[in-house]
Amino acid sequence: MTDKDEVASLLVTGGAGFIGSNFVRYLARVNPQAKVVVLDKMTYAANPHNLDGLSRKPIVIRGDICDSSLVEQIVEQHHINGIIHFAAESHNDNSIRDAAPFIHTNIYGTYVLLEAARRHDLRFHHVSTDEVFGDTSVGDVTRFDESSPYRPSSPYSATKAASDHLVRAWWRTYGTRVTITNSSNNYGPFQHVEKFIPRQITNILTGHRPKLYGQGEDVRDWLSVEDDCRAIWNVYRRGRLGQTYLVGADNRLSNLAVVQMILAMMNRPLDEVEFVRDRPGADRRYAIDASKIRRELGWKPLQADFAKSLEATIEWYKRHESWWMPAKQTTELRYRQEGH
Ligand SMILES: NC(=O)c1ccc[n+]([C@@H]2O[C@H](COP(=O)([O-])OP(=O)(O)OC[C@H]3O[C@@H](n4cnc5c(N)ncnc54)[C@H](O)[C@@H]3O)[C@@H](O)[C@H]2O)c1
Repeated sequence: MTDKDEVASLLVTGGAGFIGSNFVRYLARVNPQAKVVVLDKMTYAANPHNLDGLSRKPIVIRGDICDSSLVEQIVEQHHINGIIHFAAESHNDNSIRDAAPFIHTNIYGTYVLLEAARRHDLRFHHVSTDEVFGDTSVGDVTRFDESSPYRPSSPYSATKAASDHLVRAWWRTYGTRVTITNSSNNYGPFQHVEKFIPRQITNILTGHRPKLYGQGEDVRDWLSVEDDCRAIWNVYRRGRLGQTYLVGADNRLSNLAVVQMILAMMNRPLDEVEFVRDRPGADRRYAIDASKIRRELGWKPLQADFAKSLEATIEWYKRHESWWMPAKQTTELRYRQEGH
């Protein structure tokens, strides 16, 4: 961080999506003096209402990160000194159906932003995923760390891997002031109903069974979105330039175990599930070793009690039916067409 960066004027890409909007809310609490400009294409995954109710409203610009003249104009007009880059096509199943928007937004869009960062000497933080490391077998006990080889499985994770490599190349070649976080599966409020936990909760709320891919044995390492936002902000402010930090809460559970927790919390029988077609090439297990961010930046998950945070997430979806209901029917129709 330079002195110039302390008076932050931040460009938050994808700030109307799940993690991006939680991040803007988090920032409004911890750093209300920061000027925040959200650039978001408002794809199906965005919801402009995600940013409602903030006492200090961000400037929201509807636009595409692939539009280099728009990005240039925003950086100049708003005196941006840092970019926190969330915008992406983010859903694996969609990438299997059509990889084109993933390649365009996730790879080319990241390039456009990196070029703006290079030209204007901006601090650049890239929000990425542990899925770039591929998976391990279900019975494995190893965890990914910052030295794990890249082995992405899906078109989505391959585009995120490509964007990570671009970010590293801009650091090595041009000295652009970059950092990367690769975090595990997030959960919490404002997550689209296509994603695993909201899908199960809203299925139950609409009188349907939770749906499990395959036998539900795959393991995910769950991280509350609030903890991820705090990790991202810590790395943005205090992370070593050019470095990658893995973020996870050591909260590994099979998909079946998560669904059964949700069923129990919503007073439904534990066997009220439906097993559906598995995702082609599905990752079996993710596991994150977050020692580096813990050691270097003193970060640790504060919402480490998964059951408690899951219960709070269920409550949020119960109270915000008007937020998620409009997307529910089309999402389930798409899943049905693909046997999921
Ligand atoms: N959700 C997770 O569990 C998770 C875990 C690790 C990393 N990530 C990464 O975090 C970031 C945010 O994920 P999310 O779950 O909030 O995704 P999301 O799909 O909820 O939100 C993505 C946002 O990006 C916007 N967007 C898409 N294409 C755009 C474009 N071309 N120009 C401008 N905006 C565009 C969308 O409108 C949306 O608001 C992504 O980069 C994702 O890869 C997600």
